Order: sequence, then structure tokens, then C-alpha cells
Amino acid sequence: MTKKRTKNSTRVSLSTRALHGTKLYPHKAPVAFPIYQTSTYRFESSEDAIRYAKGDPTVFVYSRYHNPTVQEVEEKIALLYGAEDAVLFSSGMAAITTTILAIAKPGNTILSTPALYGGTYRWFRDELHHYGINVRIIDPHNLATIVEYADTTTCIVYFETPTNPTLDIIDITEVAQQTARARAKIGKPILSIIDNTFGTVVNQNPLEMGIDVCIESATKYIGGHHDLLAGVVVGQNALCNRVRNVAKYLGGCLDPFAAFLLNRSLATLELRVLQHNANAFTLAKALENHPKVKRVLYPGLPSHPYHRIAKRQMRGFGGMVTIELQPSRKYTPAEAAAHVCDSLNVAVNAMSLGGVETLVSIPVFSSHVFMSDSELARHGVSPGMIRISVGLEGIDDLINDFTQALDTLR
Ligand SMILES: Cc1ncc(COP(=O)(O)O)c(C=O)c1O
Repeated sequence: MTKKRTKNSTRVSLSTRALHGTKLYPHKAPVAFPIYQTSTYRFESSEDAIRYAKGDPTVFVYSRYHNPTVQEVEEKIALLYGAEDAVLFSSGMAAITTTILAIAKPGNTILSTPALYGGTYRWFRDELHHYGINVRIIDPHNLATIVEYADTTTCIVYFETPTNPTLDIIDITEVAQQTARARAKIGKPILSIIDNTFGTVVNQNPLEMGIDVCIESATKYIGGHHDLLAGVVVGQNALCNRVRNVAKYLGGCLDPFAAFLLNRSLATLELRVLQHNANAFTLAKALENHPKVKRVLYPGLPSHPYHRIAKRQMRGFGGMVTIELQPSRKYTPAEAAAHVCDSLNVAVNAMSLGGVETLVSIPVFSSHVFMSDSELARHGVSPGMIRISVGLEGIDDLINDFTQALDTLR
């Protein structure tokens, strides 16, 4: 935004200068993009208000609609994805719910893979039917079910890969192709949407593989420091404008300060993710050899059932590793997982993921807490699992920490 220079500025009172600050001085563009920590914007004259009323999108009026700091980050994230546009939100869930409510209408159906982030899964399971929107589960490893289940009510194919917490891999190109076939079958638009939080744009770009919309919880790798909440939707202009319009009513806009932090985080996104990938790969290999570990789930390991697909569609295998413990003589599986988490000295026992510190969580007590035993079984989640968001600590420190914690299991 340009600043107006006030002539004869020293003639105005101290109070006026105190109130109007640098507006009295020539504008000097800062190197770091500033935080426009404001809810509203000064019009140059009422001409601006009239231009806004006539639909000119370049007039800033109110920060729930748009904000320069937020816009700067939206443009950068769109650029990272090679996309036309991006919309930022106050959280990943705000991004997911607003996008779906912007597309789906009462009577519509969403085709979804079963393994989703717990918040999304529960919203689909417990809330969406109140809006008259149905969810039908497809088989993630028989994606022809997309075409089979598609009918004139279908509006979205929704999925995640790698999945939480089992790190299952779904063939992204195949989802795009089957969605195209489903579209042709019913003769109506169907949008494919991926939650790309675990992969991040650094490791995989689903838009290049034919997916229509990418969503990320920017709370995770984009933010990367466990100090903010944000979400982002990336895709074509028309879709993003539709989402932006609904966001105005639902109100999940990003705060300018969080946008400033995100902008700072973007500067190190690639560096951080590459190191998360390297640390996770080395830790996964080390844990595979520990006698107290029954299974290590990591898409970068040749032992992963869908390693071949991961190698084809991912540039790196991500920073998330899940382990399943061997049965213990002393503890139930969930107690054993809790005992290991409580014995760690470097890794932190905390929910969330994607930040610089290594975090551990037990899915049955965190992301999957509201699921029945049969749902847990369907999702392949067992009580003896520990999900590790591998951070940027020295890799030897992490290996030593997990080794000593696992060694205490009896
Ligand atoms: C894969 C995934 N998607 C979405 C979300 C929701 O993001 P937020 O917590 O920023 O609302 C999470 C949160 O853990 C997640 O792991």
C-alpha cells in the first residue's frame, strides 16, 4: 500500500504526529514485509469506497476480506505450488471446512478415503449430514471404486497421502485419473481435493499430478515452529474466489501476525523439510533394528508396502514415522506406548507435527481418540503405536533418545 506524504508535517501538533506516525514522513520500503496489524483501511477518499462498492478487488476495506500481509503469503504459497491462487485461513480445519462448504450443496455426496486426519474424519462422520451432505468411503487401493460409486450427487473426491498415523500411500495420479473418468461418467464437475499436510509442497505437488485442490494445515510444516495456527487452500482462481467468498461469512480469516510468522517460515521451508526427511529416514532405519519395535511405518523404507508408489510420486518421504511396539510382559500395548513416550528426554510428548522439535503422540489417545474399536481396526491403528514427528535435532541425539526409552521396556 502506498503512503501519502503530508506537506508541512512539522506544523501539526505533537498529538497529531503521535497519532499519525510515519504517514508524515517519506515512505521507505522495508526489507522484511511488514505486519499490517489492522482490522480496517483508510480510504484515500470516498472514491475508494465507491470503487469497492462497484466490485474493485484491489481496494482494501476490512481484514476479514483481505490484508496485505496475508495476501503476500498467499501469493508466495500459490507460487510454490505453481498454482493460480491460494487462500489462507486461521487453521487447517477452517481451510478444510470452508472449502467443502463452498463446493458441496445439500443432497451432494463426497467420496473419501477412510484414513483421514481425526478432525476431518469426525466432521465427515458426525456433522456433515446436518448440512444434507453425505460421505461415501472408497477403497484407497482399488481406486476404480471412485468411478463405481460416482453418481449425479457426487461433487468431491477427498483424500490424504501419506495418511495419519499409518503413513499409507495412495496413488495421486490414479486418483486424478479415476476422478476424470467419474466426471465423464456423470457428465458433471467433480473436484479432487487432497490434504497435503504430511507431504508438503516440498515433497509432492499433487497439482502437477492432476489434482484440482491442495489443502495444507500450515500449522504444521509451513509454519514449522509450533508457534502458530493456519491453513491454506491452493488451486485455480475461480475455485479460490468461491472459497474466499464463503470465508467472508464463516470468518476463519488468518490474523496478520500469524501471516507475518508464516512469511518468515516460508524462507526456510525447503531447508527444513529436506532435513526433516533426512532425519526421519535415518531414525526409521535405526528403529527397524530395535528389538522392542515390531514394525516401523515409513514410506521411504523398502519394507513399506507402497514404497514403489511413494518413490514415484514423492521427492522426499517426509518427516513422519510411526512405530508399533512388540508386546510387553509388564504393560498393555497402550501402557507400553505411554511408558516409552514418558521415558524420552529429547523428543517431546505433545500433539501436532511438522515443527522443528521432535514430538511423539499415541494415536489412540490423540488423533484417533473418538473412534470405536472397529473403526480403529479399519484404520489399521493399534494401541501400541507411537507417531513420531521427527524434528531437526542432531540425528545421533534422537537415535540415542529413542534407543534408551525403548530399552526401558520390559
Ligand atoms: C493432516 C492434517 N490435516 C488437517 C489438520 C488440521 O489442522 P489445524 O490443526 O491447523 O486445524 C491436521 C492437524 O493435526 C492434520 O494433521
